[in-house]
Amino acid sequence: MTLLQRAGVSVTQWTEKRNLTQEELVAHCQQYDALLLASDNKIDRPFLEQCRHLKVVSLLSVGYDKVDVAAANELGVPITNTPGVVSAATADTAFLLMLSVSRKAFYQHKRIIKGDWGFTEPTANLGMEVQGKTLGIWGLGNIGYVMAQRCISAFNMKVIYCNRGRNEAAEKELGAIRVSFEELLAQSDVLSVHTALTVETTGKFDHAAFGKMKPSAIFINTARGGIHKEKDLIAALEAGTIWGAGLDVTNPEPMAPGNPLLEMPTVAVLPHIGSATIETRNAMSVIAAKNIVAAMNDMALPNQVTSL
Ligand code: DGY
Repeated sequence: MTLLQRAGVSVTQWTEKRNLTQEELVAHCQQYDALLLASDNKIDRPFLEQCRHLKVVSLLSVGYDKVDVAAANELGVPITNTPGVVSAATADTAFLLMLSVSRKAFYQHKRIIKGDWGFTEPTANLGMEVQGKTLGIWGLGNIGYVMAQRCISAFNMKVIYCNRGRNEAAEKELGAIRVSFEELLAQSDVLSVHTALTVETTGKFDHAAFGKMKPSAIFINTARGGIHKEKDLIAALEAGTIWGAGLDVTNPEPMAPGNPLLEMPTVAVLPHIGSATIETRNAMSVIAAKNIVAAMNDMALPNQVTSL
């Protein structure tokens, strides 16, 4: 806010505790030159067609799967995001989920709330350790790199990854080994998803994929809920095809309170808080504001996205 105001931008903030409908968003945008979007509204073709006058849609997120980027390019509405600054916080969330699942922490906490402290029988409440195990990363970019660093430092985990191209820095600095998707599924003890949601990645973790994973494997998704098929994940957990799952993203969001995943001992679910720290949200806000200031001054946009 300060950054925008100091740059002479007059700001109107939507303060109601609900997202605008698409129609409301379009209607509001008619009076403004730029939109800073912190909600789940879609920047789809109908929106873009009606808001072609916008100098920028500045997203308060690194992910931009809610944007029809091709339509934005075609209609000349620049889109910007907040890359780089979310990596540590999001990797921390993946790490938190990995440990929470491995020790059934969310489940044990819920038992205490229900007055079920339990009997201290030595083989009750057993989790599993991740020391020295294999971390598989699907989509090793900035966030996956930090997750790998954390897992190596804390637990001396071996890192394998599957990307379209090589990540030479991760190979050199972390000893990460590039493998095929099939090998990633077969070899990972913890499989953490850090890729964008695209046509290719949508529903990639389905019945067939879970079926190729180890029965002791933990699946972690802090990227986008659309990357795994929820029904298939539930079935895989119920059948013991995989051991556990940690999700910061679901499909749909919010997850319904009665979802069976919420009752499973080896599952931990968070409400999409990957980048929700004071430090990271501040850093994201500064980037989002700078993108707006640049657009208002007809300067090159620091973080324009042009393709998926
Ligand atoms: C991001 O930055 O993409 C986070 O998931 C918040 O939406």
